Amino acid sequence: MRSLDDLDVSGKRVLVRVDFNVPLAAEGEGEPQAGGGVPLVSDDTRIAAALATIEELRAGGARLVLVSHLGRPNGKRAAELSLAPVADRLRELTGAKVTLAPAVIGDEVTALAEELEEGDILVLENVRFEPGETSNDPELARALAALADLYVDDAFGVAHRAHASTEGIAHLLPSAAGRLLEREVQTLTGILEHPQHPLVAIVGGAKVADKIAVIERFLEVADVVMIGGAMCFPFLCAQGHAVGKSLCDDEDVEHARSALLRASDSHAPQPGRARLLVPNDLVIGERLATDAAHRVLDGVEVPAGWMGLDIGPKTVQRYASVIASAGTVFWNGPMGAFELEPFAAGTRAVAEAVASAKGLTVVGGGDSAAALAQFGLEGSVDHLSTGGGATLEFVEGRVLPGVSALQGAGVA
Ligand code: 3PG
Repeated sequence: MRSLDDLDVSGKRVLVRVDFNVPLAAEGEGEPQAGGGVPLVSDDTRIAAALATIEELRAGGARLVLVSHLGRPNGKRAAELSLAPVADRLRELTGAKVTLAPAVIGDEVTALAEELEEGDILVLENVRFEPGETSNDPELARALAALADLYVDDAFGVAHRAHASTEGIAHLLPSAAGRLLEREVQTLTGILEHPQHPLVAIVGGAKVADKIAVIERFLEVADVVMIGGAMCFPFLCAQGHAVGKSLCDDEDVEHARSALLRASDSHAPQPGRARLLVPNDLVIGERLATDAAHRVLDGVEVPAGWMGLDIGPKTVQRYASVIASAGTVFWNGPMGAFELEPFAAGTRAVAEAVASAKGLTVVGGGDSAAALAQFGLEGSVDHLSTGGGATLEFVEGRVLPGVSALQGAGVA
């Protein structure tokens, strides 16, 4: 993959695709913005993660045109999805001259790009205000390319989308990966292709169907795969246990059954067949609510009228000891309904075990990143991926269009 080392950026206008798809909140509130108040960036992790590339380019004498999406406005302008709060936060973080363009393309935008001095930053409006972005329209890709001399893609979080600003444009300008995208690809490739063993994958979350490809990949390359979250119930169901009111559909039970068959059938991993661990105790509740009746269940036979909402203390202990002796840990997905205190202990304990593990620790974004932040542990892992869907697709072994467009010789 081409990197910043392959580009001479001095005095050039560089269009940088970043993933500033960040949560916003109304000023003075911790809640997501709901119509009122001035929106502010409530979690700037993705902006901070792009600073290495932005600062390196500025120090190299580039003039920067930044492109990002925010939410899914479906090709229409939506005031609440303007990048204005993001541009404000970027100005605070960089101290640079940061201007927000009034649109994505057009004469006014071109004039602003031409006025840029070395080190200045022009942030284009939300690129998904243009209908041609998600359809990878060559016209939009050409219009974006006309704003700059070079293209840098640092938007790992959206690298699984073949959009005009992530894929189309890479074929029109000399292009390279930014430092964040480069680090994401190197780290994730490293744990899959040459991990320090034992490689332990912890996979949680709601639906087996969403993660079955990830589970299967790790069954092939890892030593141990540990399952948590609501997705453990299809596994328990496939093993013949009662699951009460827990989430469990037939499709997921089928996926779970096939994963159990692919896993090692002994107490040690076999070549290409990791051990697959599922919970051996649970925290159950009558409802998914903080004030619901709840208790620890010693075992996994969930009584009728109850639902499993977290892994239990024995499972925590078993999982934590596997994590402690791992050479490499990959974690994606919570162990329970961690946003509700009665069901947070399992996710908290796994987050703590990952944070204190001696091996290389990699956390795939989304809910696991939110969990780490909730427990104040986000700085305690070796690599916190900025990707949600992109990280999962990469780990599954799928080709990400935003990555493959940066491979090979590229445009001279
Ligand atoms: C994400 O938040 O996962 C990325 O920014 C991609 O967003 P999308 O799922 O709307 O394409």
